[in-house]
Amino acid sequence: MEFFELNDGNKMPAVGFGTYKLTDPVETPKAVDAAINAGYRLIDTARVYSNESLVGQGIKQNGIPRDQLFLTSKVWISDNGYENTKKAIDESLKALQLDYLDLYLIHQPYGDNYGSWRAMEEAQTAGKIKSLGVSNFPDYQITDLAQFNKVKPAINQIEINPWNQEQASVDYLKGYGIQPEAWAPFAQGYDHIFTNPTLKQIADAHNKGVGQVMLRWLFQRGIVSIAKSAKPERIKENVDIFDFTLSDAEMKQIAALDRKEGVSADHTDPKTVLRLSQYTTNLNGLD
Ligand SMILES: NC(=O)c1ccc[n+]([C@@H]2O[C@H](COP(=O)([O-])OP(=O)(O)OC[C@H]3O[C@@H](n4cnc5c(N)ncnc54)[C@H](OP(=O)(O)O)[C@@H]3O)[C@@H](O)[C@H]2O)c1
Repeated sequence: MEFFELNDGNKMPAVGFGTYKLTDPVETPKAVDAAINAGYRLIDTARVYSNESLVGQGIKQNGIPRDQLFLTSKVWISDNGYENTKKAIDESLKALQLDYLDLYLIHQPYGDNYGSWRAMEEAQTAGKIKSLGVSNFPDYQITDLAQFNKVKPAINQIEINPWNQEQASVDYLKGYGIQPEAWAPFAQGYDHIFTNPTLKQIADAHNKGVGQVMLRWLFQRGIVSIAKSAKPERIKENVDIFDFTLSDAEMKQIAALDRKEGVSADHTDPKTVLRLSQYTTNLNGLD
């Protein structure tokens, strides 16, 4: 596994395992166990995915030493603010059966994020969280949070994939000292991305799969990715990206696929704020 160094000195695995929509009580611990066995060291969950206890089971079942794993969870909108976030952190730790989280993110850029951030800073001082970050924050908003608090976010987890490449934000975040992390690195399979002729041709040239090419492209751009699959053979295949290199010409071919259109709604659109604010307990049905 390769690692990226964060602005707080902590090291984060370059490729992680995503767990959104993994909620089956049998399948989920198995998938987490399979991911760790396949070499993933970063696991991404969130309170709103309603699977933290199943993810925790998978980790326990696997038996990997805690210090070899990098675990991320996130606070949802309904737990925004100082008191609620303090509670949410403890509840996530309990569900995951862990003493600390490696990374904790504000999941959405809405509500009392300053209150949440203070709770997160305190939890970091108390040793409950190693690194603090945010998700889906527009560049101006992460800058605002960073400028007016003690701890600067280490991460912004945003949607990045060949359909939605976010080059301007990636450049901005890196220049400002914040590590970009790609959610939906496969665009959730949207619009036949796994059979796209350009990606397929590049994959064939390296004797690799299209998923591997997408994750390698992100890695070469200096972006952490979290790929989800429920299927053991795909879990294994997806993470195997460190034995080939995409050429500059291939990187440019993939860059040309950018549509600047993600699978998620525009986070600066008031309609998105209204829609996401309705989801309090889990995201089932959000799509
Ligand atoms: N911060 C946020 O707001 C946010 C939002 C969304 C997601 N996330 C995080 O990011 C992670 C990844 O995003 P995502 O799960 O939405 O989407 P994704 O990883 O882009 O795509 C997952 C989809 O791709 C399929 N897939 C995986 N590997 C494949 C392969 N090699 N060949 C063909 N199909 C393949 C999966 O199907 P199978 O499972 O059947 O293999 C699944 O349908 C999430 O799990 C979650 O942890 C964060």
